[in-house]
Amino acid sequence: MNTYGAHPFYLDVRKTTSSDGIFKNGTTHGVLLLNSNGMDVYYTGDRITYKVIGGIFDLYFFAGSAPESVLDQYTEFIGRPAPMPYWSFGFQQCRYGYKDVNDLTEVVANYAKASIPLEVMWTDIDYMDAYKDFTLDPVNFPQDKMKTFVDTLHKNGQKYVVIVDPGISTSSTYETFNRGLKADIYIKRNGTNYLGKVWPGEVYFPDFINPNSKKWWSEEIKLFKDILDYDGLWLDMNEIASFMTSSSDPNSTLDNPPYKIHSTGGQRPIIERTVPPTAYHYGNITEYDAHNLFGFYESKVTNEALVDLFGKRPFVLSRSTFVGSGKYSAHWTGDNAASFNDLGYSIPTILSFGLFGVPMVGADICGFQGNTNEELCQRWIQLGAFYPFSRDHSDKNSNRQELYLWDSVAASARKVLALRYRLLPHFYTQMYQSNQKGTPIARPLFFSFPEDTNTYEISSQFLIGRGVLVSPVVVAGAVTVDAYFPKGNWFDLFNLTKSVVAETGKYVTLDAPADHINVHLGEGNILPLQGEAMTTEAARKTPFELLVAFGSNGKSYGRVYLDDGESLNLRDKEQWTLVEFYGELQNNTVSVTSNVTNGKFAVDQKWIIEKVTFLGIPNSGNSSQFDIKEVANLTQLIGEQFKIEKPIV
Ligand code: NOJ
Repeated sequence: MNTYGAHPFYLDVRKTTSSDGIFKNGTTHGVLLLNSNGMDVYYTGDRITYKVIGGIFDLYFFAGSAPESVLDQYTEFIGRPAPMPYWSFGFQQCRYGYKDVNDLTEVVANYAKASIPLEVMWTDIDYMDAYKDFTLDPVNFPQDKMKTFVDTLHKNGQKYVVIVDPGISTSSTYETFNRGLKADIYIKRNGTNYLGKVWPGEVYFPDFINPNSKKWWSEEIKLFKDILDYDGLWLDMNEIASFMTSSSDPNSTLDNPPYKIHSTGGQRPIIERTVPPTAYHYGNITEYDAHNLFGFYESKVTNEALVDLFGKRPFVLSRSTFVGSGKYSAHWTGDNAASFNDLGYSIPTILSFGLFGVPMVGADICGFQGNTNEELCQRWIQLGAFYPFSRDHSDKNSNRQELYLWDSVAASARKVLALRYRLLPHFYTQMYQSNQKGTPIARPLFFSFPEDTNTYEISSQFLIGRGVLVSPVVVAGAVTVDAYFPKGNWFDLFNLTKSVVAETGKYVTLDAPADHINVHLGEGNILPLQGEAMTTEAARKTPFELLVAFGSNGKSYGRVYLDDGESLNLRDKEQWTLVEFYGELQNNTVSVTSNVTNGKFAVDQKWIIEKVTFLGIPNSGNSSQFDIKEVANLTQLIGEQFKIEKPIV
């Protein structure tokens, strides 16, 4: 069924079916049908059938042959994922239905009181005056109080993001609307601007394909920045969602084409609750052809407007996406339900978006629709702390669900977000990797273990980067989790003395009491960590620690990418550094060596490695026992090559 976006792309990961040796397990290719029209896609295990109602049939094959190389080839073609600001990896709080500015202020204060890190506060359509974009409700969100609120956030190293909808109210006193009329940038039907209905009532929709729309939209965004000092924009309802259905044009087959795709799951008319297919864009492009591109173009224009305005890396979050959207925006998975079912589904959804080249993705933590509960919210923050984009969001009609509202949820939030913030250098380095090579931040297990065919079916665990394995509870009432461990040694990131040793890939039943999620580091990886803190800015000022995990071959590798976290491009103006680490366990000695590329990123702060922890050192005589040796109080600047060595005692 159709949901919010269209990505006619798949990844085919092969199991060897014959002994001809042509394919080894894990041989992977990708296929894109670059077509923006409505379609049904049937998958029956050994074949895929497209039934497409228009457009051009351009099929692209990405030869791979590993999952990572397919993503490299795919994102080279569709556009590399956008660089994301460092702060966007902090934890974020939102809700549809915050009453007023005092409500917002209290939420922020309550997070601080509960010692739960809050990086970004969000506001939904509630802040607007009669749901008009770029306005403030003068009673509940008056400008002076909003200014104080946002200034205080900024003083505390926090950020503020607001929603913007595409439907522009047609109220004749609304200046944004009038300027849009003057610029003549609205979507048309039958020679006039098309009238739809969304939150503000009657609206026109901007045509972001029209080159003139950029100037108008940029100007509105800029004017609003003078009213409210926001840090990012949230683009909602851009499928385009409408609250009404226009009648079909009797002179055209487009509004009601003969082949009925699975619109809304059933075969609902494609004209329903959206802009009619016979409406048209700049250049006489019909909505029939361009429908799936609206969110993409809106993200592109918004991203470019924010680049011009901020001169810094923009943050744009879009509900609707198309092939290539990752170049301009992050994505959240839309209106999920507060249920364990939807908690579970969030994992394959997020992993899919990684494959679509939109790696900055997350689901509404604790669930959007319906009332969440203590257990669900606790499990959800445990999982959501490891989404690339980590935001709690709820519907107006559901109970409040800020993480401090239950003691148990607050305690879990402190625990898992502490680990998330320690992992920030790792998350950020994965963002760098996705921008350079398209490799997702959150990855299915087969990315790191393509030859292990057991990994292909796994959709309730995932990896962050190459080697951090997250195995959440996705079932109500469970206090254990059956987690799959590919071959190797895996070290518990909450308790480094605990490890799982998998001589071959195997399922292990792990304890998962209410206050715990299992997160492991796989052998062969070196993980850069920093200290926990209440903001990403504060976390960045803490010293580094390296976890060096060894396996049977006694080798380990990791990397960290450093820059100011906000300049427009990664590897910008030479002010960046990439440090690679090589670990070795040999002749009763452990060592780690660094190799620095560029090394020019220098800010006031010194990049210090305070501690290196080696994991997976066999005790003499018993190679299945592992011991941890620490090289403590090591002070070393990242940015210079170094080697440390330590005999095993
Ligand atoms: C629909 C969005 O998906 C949801 O996140 C938002 O809260 C509502 N629109 C209200 O703006």
